[in-house]
Amino acid sequence: MTAQTAFAEPLWSAPELALATAGRLAGRPDGALTGVSIDSRTVGRGDVFFAIKGDVHDGHKFVGDALGRGASLAVVDEAHADEASAFGPILIVKDVLEAMVATGIAARARSRAKIVAVTGSVGKTSTKEALRLALAEDGQTHASAASYNNHWGVPLTLARLPKSAAYGVFEIGMNHPDEIRPLTKMVRPHVAMVTNVEPVHLAAFKNVEGIADAKAEIFEGLVRGGHAVVNRDNAHYERLKAAAIECGAAVWSFGEHVSADSRLDRLALKETSSCVAATILGEPVTFKIGAPGRHVVQNALGVLLAAKLAGADLALAALALAKFAPPAGRGQRHELGVAGGSLLVIDES
Ligand SMILES: Nc1ncnc2c1ncn2[C@@H]1O[C@H](COP(=O)(O)OP(=O)(O)OP(=O)(O)O)[C@@H](O)[C@H]1O
Ligand SMILES: [Mg+2]
Repeated sequence: MTAQTAFAEPLWSAPELALATAGRLAGRPDGALTGVSIDSRTVGRGDVFFAIKGDVHDGHKFVGDALGRGASLAVVDEAHADEASAFGPILIVKDVLEAMVATGIAARARSRAKIVAVTGSVGKTSTKEALRLALAEDGQTHASAASYNNHWGVPLTLARLPKSAAYGVFEIGMNHPDEIRPLTKMVRPHVAMVTNVEPVHLAAFKNVEGIADAKAEIFEGLVRGGHAVVNRDNAHYERLKAAAIECGAAVWSFGEHVSADSRLDRLALKETSSCVAATILGEPVTFKIGAPGRHVVQNALGVLLAAKLAGADLALAALALAKFAPPAGRGQRHELGVAGGSLLVIDES
């Protein structure tokens, strides 16, 4: 995935990257560095290619490929520096993943964006995409690609954060305890949202309370004066709230519950969309969301609450949700013509 930035403004200069990563440059890229990539197959012109080690492949094998396809600089470790330098300009670092993390932290440090982080058992990506739409009405918005929510996805998304972004939206996921903590401390959100807590990915946990506690790690990265956004209808609401308070966060809730800060007033569920009347921090809003299902509405209540807490215009954010469409494999509807009528396929793959 490339072309993460809305405009091809320079993202990094080579000396900035060398400084951020405590690395050593060999060769000079010609032209600005406009993107960050870890995949040589989709690398774009002007990208910095971080040769990280995945589960299957070591990115160092693809440095020649990446530079050949237009990457302007490759970040490699000492052991691969000699062979990599034959292909083009390189930045030599101790550990490539650590260098990408350091780049992400540098991006966060220089950013003036309002940052929203999202975790939860289900609905992270849909919520992240709805936030992208809602915030983009208000200012330049950068958000995670796909479900880039783990130990490489989060720093990659941070490293791609444009200097000029007004908003950043980060998906953070986990399969075990202590996974979210370091990621949220990199992201340092102003607003941290937990969509819900359900018994999924239970393998590493004794019980669902353990999952709630692991999700609650997201609050530990909040900036001072940050906001926690929690699902009022979820069975673990009180537990999450207590954890957020422990972190010094202001806690806000969304849902159908009468006391939710972002509260559902009226709902019309249609086949392909929903019409919603809600009260968000005392402000009444009516909006349409372009995907069906009560869970989509529930996420939307959290999205608008988070958007408002991040400083966005609530009316513009609400209007944008009409454009929301389920991401690929997440509930898209296709009508197939078959003998004698038609068949509705709902893609939840
Ligand atoms: N609040 C919700 N409650 C229940 N189901 C939901 C909710 N939000 C989304 N879903 C359903 O869960 C599916 C997965 O949604 P999504 O991709 O947004 O989740 P995710 O948390 O990002 O998943 P992953 O862990 O794979 O990254 C969607 O197809 C949707 O139908
Ligand atoms: Mg996801």
